[in-house]
Amino acid sequence: MRRNISAIIAAAGSGQRFGATVPKALIQLGNRTLLEHAVAAMAPIADEIIVCAPAGHEDQIRTLLGDGAIVVTGGATRSQSVRAGLAVVNKNSEFVLVHDAARPLASTDLAKRIIDALTGGEVAVIPGIAQIDTVKNVDASGYVTNTPERSQLRKIQTPQGFSLEILISAHESKVEATDDGALIELLGYKVKIIDGEERALKITTPADLNSALQFLGSTNEFRTGVGVDAHAFTEGHELWLAGLLWPNEVGVAAHSDGDVAAHAICDALFAAAGLGDLGTNFGVDRPEYAGASGAKLLQETLALITGAGFAISNISVQIIGTKPKLGNRRNEAISAISKALGGASVSVLATTTDGMGLTGGGKGIAAIASALIFKV
Ligand code: CTP
Ligand code: MG
Repeated sequence: MRRNISAIIAAAGSGQRFGATVPKALIQLGNRTLLEHAVAAMAPIADEIIVCAPAGHEDQIRTLLGDGAIVVTGGATRSQSVRAGLAVVNKNSEFVLVHDAARPLASTDLAKRIIDALTGGEVAVIPGIAQIDTVKNVDASGYVTNTPERSQLRKIQTPQGFSLEILISAHESKVEATDDGALIELLGYKVKIIDGEERALKITTPADLNSALQFLGSTNEFRTGVGVDAHAFTEGHELWLAGLLWPNEVGVAAHSDGDVAAHAICDALFAAAGLGDLGTNFGVDRPEYAGASGAKLLQETLALITGAGFAISNISVQIIGTKPKLGNRRNEAISAISKALGGASVSVLATTTDGMGLTGGGKGIAAIASALIFKV
């Protein structure tokens, strides 16, 4: 017989460590808020979803979620918020999943595996992943007191699943804990750990949002683009290439600084996003870009493709010409380009084409770039 399942989503935190102007659950990740992601993952398996909202945001969240959830006002701590959810839970449910809006990408499959373990007779089931770093206990003065055996440690995630009756009795103690599993342990029940998921990571700071985007990228639409740029060497100009100044090299004459590697990458990004090209975005009719550095154009291009809803998966650029020698400046070039592109993954290669081809027997310099981007 199928048992009734309720899901309580703790979303009442302010997200102090994230530092946004809206509560953390309402921060956007790709095409929806963290809370909407969490609700969507629980919806296929839960008969009812109760959202514990930050005070003052209840109506906004009701509008956002429509009929999909019951919205209650959360409390001052996570445990109090969960208790506010338990107060309205359907008492006919057999199992309850307690989940954090701060873990937007935990999958429906994870929730299903938790319910399977409960159906198999467990009363408390929580997901955990291996602890990779060594962990130490420390005293108040900052001295190590002991080192727990790492293989016995797990990093705990949500959703966590419980027999509803037992979770209600655990919360009667009004004890505070950062997860519900801890309350069940206090009552002396067995808490079963099942394999968690890397993608169920918790969003605490803006950097975590970037990691979450990588997971989203793996399921979303990918697009690629190629870009080419070439310029003839012109005496009396500095050479800027791959975001770097190359002293003692002859440069090129161009509307901007003539950085063929940066420009090829901009075109590859525009091509992938379907947003025109360098000329249509920063061409001669845009005097504010006259003399603009390659790094500046990369930054502006990133802003345009991000604005169109894309994120970069990776970039590759090959510089073609007999000089300069990329040699030991490759890492410097990669960092300069990556920095301008918000930390994107970048490769830089070079080839001389044996003095033939694109660069007309050494008369100039060229670059071909490819970009892989995805819709977020
Ligand atoms: N939470 C809650 N009620 C609270 C505090 C936290 O429902 N009074 C929820 C958060 O919304 C989050 C989850 O518990 O989904 C885990 O908490 P945490 O990651 O610490 O989120 P915040 O408390 O919002 O963040 P911070 O501690 O940085 O302020
Ligand atoms: Mg908190």
